[in-house]
Amino acid sequence: MSQTELERGVAEILVDEETLRARVLELGEEISNDYTGRDLLLVGVLKGAVFFMADLMRCLTVPCEVDFMAISSYGAASDSSGVVRILKDLDIPLDGRHVLVVEDIIDSGLTLSYLMRNLQAREPASLEVCALLTKPGRREIEIPVRYVGFEIPNRFVVGYGLDFAERYRNLPYVGVLEEDVERGLTST
Ligand code: IMP
Ligand code: MG
Repeated sequence: MSQTELERGVAEILVDEETLRARVLELGEEISNDYTGRDLLLVGVLKGAVFFMADLMRCLTVPCEVDFMAISSYGAASDSSGVVRILKDLDIPLDGRHVLVVEDIIDSGLTLSYLMRNLQAREPASLEVCALLTKPGRREIEIPVRYVGFEIPNRFVVGYGLDFAERYRNLPYVGVLEEDVERGLTST
């Protein structure tokens, strides 16, 4: 393929634009069916989930609200420690709400596990997760994920919101990063 400047460092496309679009539409239909007549609140985890969430919301045929949280996990850039710090909390109280957490990717599951415990303590009427991507082979802790876009292999991916050192989020597809790029930059 001919590469743009942005695409430098991308080894291959894992999930292309058309496949993303079709799957997001399917998820939107499924979620709309499940939440008919319920007061849905989408909780997005900044920053990666913003892109997926914006597309997913527009495929929902039920009314919903959105709110965002920013969290940071201590530790190396591409490895999660499970120790999570809340950088920005939600504005909307969760008690009695039907909450759907929207995530970009679940890797070890440690970040989400912490987040779910934190949100559950706020006594929502229901609490579920919708993740665009999941790497089952990397899971260190079991968390029930109600909606999954795609199961992917143990590769570091970028694009459609996912970053490497804050770059590549604006790629319109999900691509695999070249290994030497990942190694080179993570060790600095
Ligand atoms: P976990 O706690 O190991 O599940 O880490 C989840 C977080 O790590 C995600 O929300 C992403 O920010 C980041 N992450 C995990 N795998 C990837 C990847 O392949 N590409 C980009 N970010 C990733
Ligand atoms: Mg990240």
